[in-house]
Amino acid sequence: AKSKITVIGSINMDLVTSTSRIPKVGETLLGDSFHTIPGGKGANQAVAAARLGAEVTMIGAVGDDSFGETVVNNLTSHGINTEDIIRIKDCSTGIASITVSDRDNSIIVVPGANDHITLDIIEQNEDKIKNSDILLLQLEIPLESVIRAVQLAKKHNTLTILNPAPIRKLPMELLEMVDYLTPNEHEQTLLFGSTGGTEKEVEMLKEKCIVTKGSKGVMLYHNGDCLEIPSIQVEAVDTTGAGDSFNGALAFSLCAGTKIEDGCRFANVVGAISVTKLGAQTGMPSIKEVDEFLQANKLN
Ligand code: RIB
Ligand code: NA
Repeated sequence: AKSKITVIGSINMDLVTSTSRIPKVGETLLGDSFHTIPGGKGANQAVAAARLGAEVTMIGAVGDDSFGETVVNNLTSHGINTEDIIRIKDCSTGIASITVSDRDNSIIVVPGANDHITLDIIEQNEDKIKNSDILLLQLEIPLESVIRAVQLAKKHNTLTILNPAPIRKLPMELLEMVDYLTPNEHEQTLLFGSTGGTEKEVEMLKEKCIVTKGSKGVMLYHNGDCLEIPSIQVEAVDTTGAGDSFNGALAFSLCAGTKIEDGCRFANVVGAISVTKLGAQTGMPSIKEVDEFLQANKLN
């Protein structure tokens, strides 16, 4: 049977400009290229899991503009169930204005319709949450909706993965409830760095944190142990969405009953492959592509 993943989160259109370097304040620069590519952390994670073969439902909101239609069609084309995505009248679809250079990127997100995922919408989808193996969440929709979704998942014994991005201060109640938290290094520092958390928070987070550190690998904190998983060396073209690929792949693995360490190793490979192409979703591999990559790099 296919594994069932529900993603509740953001759906954006990414407006991606490639340039030799990020402009300084007040500077005008001639860029190299421009692409519109479907994105949003929620949608990206849904696509990552679907590409690998999971049965995925996306719950989210888009505006009544042309981007909205394009991004929903894109999800459908990946075999994702989009029947519960709502369209908000007189509202723009979320966008991310992304500048990518060889070395780094900078992003402005305008949430638009993503801000309209209310508690009511979450509650209307209780059955979906109940009937899923995994609920995957990020922080690009209202926090109270994320909290409610996790409460419902807990009530129905659905495993939850929260990717705390973009990071903000999170209530203890939420941190306690989720099964896995997947911050990157910067988010980790804010969650439980030297000044970022109480002793109790730090202890608890070390039970369930999976910290993605890009080219420095992944740290898995589990049952009081800490396991370091090295990164896979690749030629990075665009690291946007690497974390999303990791999260989608992790959800896929856990659904399939894979042990957490092995799930992290697999997700690490998927994340690495995804950065070899421009765009967040563009480089996300199918399961066949993952196998080919493992063989070509003698990793299996
Ligand atoms: O994680 C990458 C994503 O963050 C982009 O696709 C962009 O839409 C922003 O939400
Ligand atoms: Na990419």
